[in-house]
Amino acid sequence: MKVPFLDLGRQHEPIKAALHEAACRVIDGCHYIGGEDVKAFEQEMAAWQGVPEVCGVACATSGLFATLKCFGIGPGDEVITTVHTAIATAESISLTGAKVVFCDLKKGFFNLDPAEVAKKVTPRTKAIIPVHLYGQPADLDAILEIARKHKLIVIEDCAQAQGARYKGQRVGNYGAAAVFSFFPSKNLGGFGDGGAVIAKDPAVLKKIRMFSNHGRTAKYLHEFEGINSRLDAIQAALLRICLPHVDEWNAKRRQVAAWYAEGLKGIRQVVTPQTVPETEPIYHVYCIVVPDREALQKHLKQNDIETGVHYPYSLNVLPAYAHLKQGKGSFPVAEHACEHMLSLPMFPAMTREEADAVCKAVRAFYP
Ligand SMILES: Cc1ncc(COP(=O)(O)O)c(C=O)c1O
Repeated sequence: MKVPFLDLGRQHEPIKAALHEAACRVIDGCHYIGGEDVKAFEQEMAAWQGVPEVCGVACATSGLFATLKCFGIGPGDEVITTVHTAIATAESISLTGAKVVFCDLKKGFFNLDPAEVAKKVTPRTKAIIPVHLYGQPADLDAILEIARKHKLIVIEDCAQAQGARYKGQRVGNYGAAAVFSFFPSKNLGGFGDGGAVIAKDPAVLKKIRMFSNHGRTAKYLHEFEGINSRLDAIQAALLRICLPHVDEWNAKRRQVAAWYAEGLKGIRQVVTPQTVPETEPIYHVYCIVVPDREALQKHLKQNDIETGVHYPYSLNVLPAYAHLKQGKGSFPVAEHACEHMLSLPMFPAMTREEADAVCKAVRAFYP
């Protein structure tokens, strides 16, 4: 049996007619920037997230950048984040002129170790960006406590965690602000790039909205310089069709994770993801840790099973961060994870037969 890593076609099949109708409506309406669909999507996502307001943006990368800028972060400041994330998280910090301060992971998990965060705080630290990687909520209580103690801003990177819950509430509702991504493979994926920002302080969100639209208050009236980071009308119209399905899609991902946990149980060499008590992960990625990743990946490929690696490098070893002089060996937990992790197929439309085929192939590799 061929098992794809991701099958967006199957996921979209039941809502295909509605997606086509929405796209055609925007095309025929000839209103492509801003407008009713963007406004309606922002309101619908706000209601779903349980917050008063959402600001649509062009992508999470620019959303993070805009948020940092609007909190006044820039040259001379330091922002702490995880060394094991998509480059976008770190890139958005550097783009403001602030210094990225990387932290290692908590052993056995893929998220920031609060003990490491506490060690990295200096008088220059202005913010912490916890990333809810793979849809697993980060240790928010501990991170928020450090932030309270040192008066730091917490910006949650929810790019991979739309709908995940921490102590009953959706992630994103804990920090001073949170950023979401609608990159097509995300749990709420669009049909191109897209993202959203929320913030506790309405004045900050207003500024982020303005910053994302050239700092303007009205046509040709610009209060400050910003960037072009608007959510497209066509993306908003399509995301409105997808949003009501996210909770159901996330539940299906959790079901696939449960099938994997059951099917891989007892294989000594395979470490399956741990769930932190009082969290509800949404398995954007289902990542196992094995001693011989390359060989297992090759074996699964020979069995028509697609896999991924998220990520093959921790950010500290990349040429982009050579200037930080924190080469190999600086973040042992993250670096070990990068060498041993393997992402198994995971998507809401995946069947029990497909999950069983993956588990059977892994078991055959570790007889
Ligand atoms: C953790 C994390 N943060 C930020 C981003 C950036 O998202 P976008 O592609 O919408 O800019 C991504 C996307 O891969 C991500 O995984």
